Amino acid sequence: MSILKTEELTYTYSVGTPFEKTAVDHVSLEINEGEMIGVMGHTGSGKSTLIQHFNGLLRPTSGRVLLDGRDIWEDKDKLRDVRFQVGLVFQYPEYQIFEETVFRDIAFGPKNMGLDEAEIKRRVLETANDIGLSEELLERSPFDLSGGQKRRVAIAGVMAMEPKVLILDEPTAGLDPAGRDKILSHIRAYHERTKNTILIVSHSMEDIATFADRILVMNNAKLFCFDETKKVFARADEISQIGLDVPQITRVFMELKKRGIAQDKEVYTVGYAKELLLKMLGRREGS
Ligand SMILES: Nc1ncnc2c1ncn2[C@@H]1O[C@H](COP(=O)(O)OP(=O)(O)O)[C@@H](O)[C@H]1O
Ligand SMILES: [Mg+2]
Repeated sequence: MSILKTEELTYTYSVGTPFEKTAVDHVSLEINEGEMIGVMGHTGSGKSTLIQHFNGLLRPTSGRVLLDGRDIWEDKDKLRDVRFQVGLVFQYPEYQIFEETVFRDIAFGPKNMGLDEAEIKRRVLETANDIGLSEELLERSPFDLSGGQKRRVAIAGVMAMEPKVLILDEPTAGLDPAGRDKILSHIRAYHERTKNTILIVSHSMEDIATFADRILVMNNAKLFCFDETKKVFARADEISQIGLDVPQITRVFMELKKRGIAQDKEVYTVGYAKELLLKMLGRREGS
């Protein structure tokens, strides 16, 4: 069964004013338990607006959002529960850090859930480990950490609530390639340990290509496509036309295909490209 589902979800900002803007337009989709989903689209395509519906931060102008088959707005008293079950990490979450120590910052969410001290401690240690923060950092002030470390503290704070669905809005924005790879590999480790559903918003295909099960692409408030990663990459031409960066290696293979040299064009990792190239070379040498 799907864990998250939207039915004709529509959201319009500033209804009835000159600034009226429909940011999500009749989007229907289903996300299954345990999936790792990449959410892509150019800036302003509606990604952030869409995901803020998944934990009830925004209420649909029309249409519905279902969590485990139930409309999250059906009973407003349950909305608090929804926010514990669907954890949302905003873009640049490090700006929301405010506690005196890293430990207390990560513990903030679990504390709010009313968990006991032992359970809170277990969760803080476990998530700090998942996200690559060493134990000696836990008693430090988060403000003494590097930008990348602060971001990991903020992500750990949401992970520590152990949400069934974890949503990260552009978790790698503004980081250098090393910081980006580190965060992504830690998120992947968390996914492997918990098997929880994860949505990662990104405007870079390179970021999510290697580990998303499925990719959802937004374009001008509409759902452009939502399919297995490989199938989305097979449409790389269209994807680059709507303003998304296609990975360099994908572009190389698109060009090789155009020139009749390669057959595959849905190539999106350097490792797979190497395998294909070696095979092609082997064939040539043998002939
Ligand atoms: N608070 C807001 N008020 C009015 N318009 C907004 C607001 N937030 C976003 N928008 C508009 O909604 C559209 C979608 O924005 P957003 O969901 O932030 O896209 P993305 O996350 O893909 O960049 C954009 O045109 C944006 O300008
Ligand atoms: Mg956004």
